[in-house]
Amino acid sequence: MQKVEKNIVILISGDGSNMAAIVQAAKKEKWHDSLGACVACVVSNRPDARGLAAAQSLGIATQLVDHSQYPSREKFDAALADVIDSYHPALLVLAGFMRILTPGFVAYYAGRLVNIHPSLLPAFAGLNTHQRAIDAGCTVAGATVHQVTAELDHGHILAQAVVPILPGDTAATLAARVLVQEHLLYPKAVRALLYNQ
Ligand code: GRF
Repeated sequence: MQKVEKNIVILISGDGSNMAAIVQAAKKEKWHDSLGACVACVVSNRPDARGLAAAQSLGIATQLVDHSQYPSREKFDAALADVIDSYHPALLVLAGFMRILTPGFVAYYAGRLVNIHPSLLPAFAGLNTHQRAIDAGCTVAGATVHQVTAELDHGHILAQAVVPILPGDTAATLAARVLVQEHLLYPKAVRALLYNQ
């Protein structure tokens, strides 16, 4: 058996369904044996993030770094980095993490920091992606896994999934269709990154 060397740390703020998809893929596909990788910890910036309980029920260690307890983004990011670094991560995965990170934080984790965004980047960076895609008359939408850089949602694109926009779609119905694909796309992209490390 391969020694586990590649720790994955996942940052969440909400439901954590992408986090759970990655944890479940890691278990099912035995990333521990095949890649020497494991999800070491899930970190939330919000105490009410539902993903914290989900991670615990999957047997993953959790940590809370509550951004409301810090006077500045820099101080919050420094505390967050302290927690993250205690796990010596090979890969830091943002999965519905709803805080803008400082350029210093992003630079520090450059090359091992990835995000999933619910649009086909470079289209619709930022918020309300599904409604904006519907309003623009797009016939397809999707999700993008990308490297994180200081400019929001602009890092190198690693993987994308496409879904149709159907007549009568609302932001909610489209988001649900995209999320199904996110749960397939993100574990696959994370596995490929770990494989190539
Ligand atoms: C996903 O749609 C993801 O693309 C976006 O936020 C949502 C997070 O969902 N960044 P979950 O917390 O993984 O369920």
